[in-house]
This record gives sequence, C-alpha cells and structure tokens, in this order.
Amino acid sequence: MAVYASNHPLVKHKVSLLRDDKISVKSFRELTKELSVLLTIEATTQLTLANKPLTCWSGVISAPLLAEKQPTLVPILRAGLGMLDGALSILPCAKVSVVGLKRDEETLQPISYYQNIVNDVSERQAIIIDPMLATGGTALATLNLLKQSGCKHIKAIFLVAAPEGIKILQEAHPDVDLFIGMIDKELNEQGYILPGLGDAGDKIFG
Ligand code: PRP
Repeated sequence: MAVYASNHPLVKHKVSLLRDDKISVKSFRELTKELSVLLTIEATTQLTLANKPLTCWSGVISAPLLAEKQPTLVPILRAGLGMLDGALSILPCAKVSVVGLKRDEETLQPISYYQNIVNDVSERQAIIIDPMLATGGTALATLNLLKQSGCKHIKAIFLVAAPEGIKILQEAHPDVDLFIGMIDKELNEQGYILPGLGDAGDKIFG
C-alpha cells in the first residue's frame, strides 16, 4: 500500500481552515468540496490512457483517452456525501456506489445500514471518499465489502487520517493506495482524531 499525504499548499491551507472551531456549515461544505477536487486529481494521476482514433477539425488523430471505464466513487454515508460533488466534477461520468456505515460511539465498531454497489464494480476501479479515517473500522468494512463484490482496484481519499487507521488498512489491504489531505497526530481515548475536524458528518449536515 502506498500512502500519499498531499504536498499541495492549498490542501494544507484548506484542511487548516476546516479545523477552525467557529467554522460555519457553509464554509465547511465549501472547503470539503474544494479539497475533494484537489485530492481526486491526485488520486487519478495514474489512470491508464490508450491512444484511440478521434475525429477532430483537422481530421482523424490518435488521441490519448482513458483506457478503462471511469471509476466508481464510493462515498461512505453520511459524511462522504460532502465530498461527492467535488469528486464528480473531476470524474463526471463516474458511477456512484453508496455504503452506509455508522460508527458506534461506545464500541467504535462500524454498523452497516445500507449498501448499493454498482453491478459492474469488477470492471472498474473504486475510489472511496470519506472526510475522516480514525480507527479504520469503517474504511476496513468498506474495503471488505468492495472486494467481496468483486472489485479488484481500490483507492481511498480522506481529508484527514490518524496513523492508527492507516496502519490497520496497510496491514489488512496492502494493495490499496490512500490519498490523504493531512496525516494527523493520533486518536484520543474516545476514538476522535487529534487535532482532527470534530464530527465532520454533523458539520456537513448541519
Ligand atoms: C465518521 C467518518 C468515518 C468514520 C471514521 O463517520 O466520516 O466514516 O467516522 O471512523 P473510524 O475510522 O473509527 O471507523 P460517522 O461514523 O461519525 O458517521 P456519519 O458520517 O454518519 O456522521
């Protein structure tokens, strides 16, 4: 597994703004969308191209176009929905698979309440989107579900991630690449990321 922490100054700046305790719902939503655009670009730099015939104004040329079907984006409900518009602005033809998981705040274990994976997921790359990777339980359950559904190539994008969650994913799914806005310091005893974002779901949904 490769772990890519963004070096883009705009990503760092915007993640810092997201941490502001007094941030409005409007600003949190806007920054989440903007970060999703930037990180989706970083997560798609290795998509394969193939030269295909294309008729343009000057005749037929051999043009580099995506060789494979566009990925399926996989927002994890709820907070992942806040990243969907930004990711779709880069991948407008992507299919969307939805996974509903809610972390039990006492056990910290993910509880599954909805899943709708596109039926041709075995023919596409999947890109998971979620603002936060904390203990890793939610992402782990999503990766397991995608692989059980036949998906072979998976990436995941997080705005912030804790080292504990990264380690769990690295051990369980070494083939999955992670694209992270900022890697934070640690988890607290309640399983919240420090310094983190607070409850991203509540901040996005108001
Ligand atoms: C948050 C976050 C991740 C999960 C991370 O969602 O958006 O999905 O927690 O925690 P983990 O790595 O310890 O599993 P939450 O469960 O709060 O649900 P919500 O998006 O519906 O608010």
